[in-house]
Amino acid sequence: MKKLFVLLLSLVMVFSMVACGGSNEASETTTEAKDEAVKIGVTIYKFDDNFMSFVRRAIGTAAEGSAELILNDSNNSQATQNDQVDMMISKGVKSLAINLVDPQAAPTIITKAEQAGLPVIFFNKEPEASVLKSYDKAWYVGTASSEAGIIQGEMIAEMWKANPEWDRNGDGVLNYVLMKGEPGHPDAEARTKYAVDVVKEAGIEMNELELQTGMWDSVKGKELMDAWLAKHGDEIEFVICNNDGMALGAIESLKGNGYFGDGTYMPVVGVDAIPDALEQIKSNYMAGTVLNDAKNQGKATFELAYNVAMGKEPLEGTDWELDGNKAVRVPYVAVTIDNIDFAEEAYK
Ligand code: GAL
Repeated sequence: MKKLFVLLLSLVMVFSMVACGGSNEASETTTEAKDEAVKIGVTIYKFDDNFMSFVRRAIGTAAEGSAELILNDSNNSQATQNDQVDMMISKGVKSLAINLVDPQAAPTIITKAEQAGLPVIFFNKEPEASVLKSYDKAWYVGTASSEAGIIQGEMIAEMWKANPEWDRNGDGVLNYVLMKGEPGHPDAEARTKYAVDVVKEAGIEMNELELQTGMWDSVKGKELMDAWLAKHGDEIEFVICNNDGMALGAIESLKGNGYFGDGTYMPVVGVDAIPDALEQIKSNYMAGTVLNDAKNQGKATFELAYNVAMGKEPLEGTDWELDGNKAVRVPYVAVTIDNIDFAEEAYK
């Protein structure tokens, strides 16, 4: 009887050890499944960029549950980004999603991707069309850069005509200062050109008091505006900014210099429609902006990068379209106090 009891006990022990082993295996299998999730290598030109932080968030949200992202802050250094690409390739990524630091560096990234046989989705900083065409596994996700400038120009012309008191000296000429984004960036170049061209085409005479780069940055935007106000004071009648980051800096400077009190309104316009800018529009410190749809650009970037990582066609199962330059272009939308809810929704 005792012998039988010992035998039964040992059987129970063996059985529970097997069961334990089984559960270990199960957890290993789960980890393996996680390890097997397709890896996608992503670089952002610098995390410390207001608009790009929303694009990054959207890429992360889109990836949840389907892919493992290796996400890199390139710290505004192309050399750093090149090293990050090498590192991601060695870690076995199946595709690359690259927000270039220097738009001219696309051929370097393409060479690396081609040698590793990897597809690459560039986003936000558009490479030259010929470079994109040189590699059959390269595509772009972004916007049509000129569109933001055109919409901003239309907004400026409409507002100027509707508010004759903004012509402070009553000479019929719109005296403006313009804060440009990063020189050589397709968005900065096109926004600068088209915003001004469109206002002139609307029959408004313009006079450029200042045009300098604020590198998309609000601290630089404030410094520029401080200097321009010291130099030109009330001569300035309009502040045109290539993005909201710089516009926010300009507004801070204007507030500090006594604007927005009685009768000292200064129209400031930007691009992006980031939440902080929408707050300024709601408080009547900012005249308007242009929605740069971070959510959909992030979503499209991930969807294309995921498809090509899985060996599929870039657009498979999506609603995006490619233009003749192998680019998905998410539309811009004008934003003023009248449609602020729409813009708020786009950044949720
Ligand atoms: C632009 C955006 C800017 C800045 C830039 C970075 O599209 O309007 O605010 O984020 O991209 O490349």
